[in-house]
Amino acid sequence: MSARVGAALAHSNIAMSKYWGKRPYPGNYPATPSLSMTVDALTTRTRVAFDPGLPRDTFELGGQKQTGTALARVSDLLDRLRAESGTLEFAEVVSKSDFPASAGLASSASGFAALALAAVRALGLDWDLGRVSDLARRSSASAARSLFGGFVELPAGPTEATTAPLAASAIAPPGHVDWKLVVAVAGEGAKPVGSSAGMEQTGKASPYYDAWLAFAPRAHAELVEALAARDFARFGAAAEESALAMHASALAAGVVYFSGATIEALSAVRALRSGGVLAYATMDAGPHVKVLCRPSDAAAVVAALRPIPGITRTLEARPGEGARPIDPKEVG
Ligand code: PMV
Repeated sequence: MSARVGAALAHSNIAMSKYWGKRPYPGNYPATPSLSMTVDALTTRTRVAFDPGLPRDTFELGGQKQTGTALARVSDLLDRLRAESGTLEFAEVVSKSDFPASAGLASSASGFAALALAAVRALGLDWDLGRVSDLARRSSASAARSLFGGFVELPAGPTEATTAPLAASAIAPPGHVDWKLVVAVAGEGAKPVGSSAGMEQTGKASPYYDAWLAFAPRAHAELVEALAARDFARFGAAAEESALAMHASALAAGVVYFSGATIEALSAVRALRSGGVLAYATMDAGPHVKVLCRPSDAAAVVAALRPIPGITRTLEARPGEGARPIDPKEVG
């Protein structure tokens, strides 16, 4: 029997209302709701080939054979799919991203979204995107959102323990607004603390974790309303507040993702606002700063961020499309 092959492309996404913290029961259910923008400029392409001749799963990322945790996380998703679909075959997984992995640019979001869709396609399963989103969420909650385009919401998990599906859904298409995101890349290295470990430490040790859990749904509701009203200033201000509150709770537990360049970039964004340029910053589990702005202000934002020492490059992005199947040859 020959291999069953599927491939998919997924864009990364950046949360405007942040998920930070998990429910205290198994299954990777988020403790806060989140709202993200799918980012057209950050892309992962993944091919999965289930093959009866393989003795184990293999995973190649960016041309490098992966072992340890990276391979284990891929196998874990495939194990759940094997259990649901009844296949016993191992798979060869090949993945390529056009941006550095594990640096807080949401590579796990596009990575697990592309992996989930490629694996489901390889097995010829007739799953809707919600079901694929749930499969991806159990590996990385942010990945649940990358199956969809535009602006995407993932609810918090129920407070009572459950194993029920929890999927993301699109709440506005990519063309709903013309807003841009300028990504200021602050170094290309891997982040010192992964997001799951950072969340766990925050939950255990932060005196502000409960305050964060109480605040996050309010910030989220504000963002959803501002998006529906296409109110850029209200949306941007709430996004920046959500990011700062998330990091405040993490910082108080000693979980520090900021570098000097992060702080400098934040100051630059505030200076832009004082000068009348509406721009709003958000940061994830890494030092990079993503700045939401209007298209006519993107050049001013780039000009303010580029000279900052430690900012190695900037990317300009727009709301992107959801994940889609591709020709396996596109992965190389
Ligand atoms: O789903 P993970 O493990 O990649 O965690 C994502 C955490 C943040 O990026 C900081 C917030 C978010 O909602 O994407």
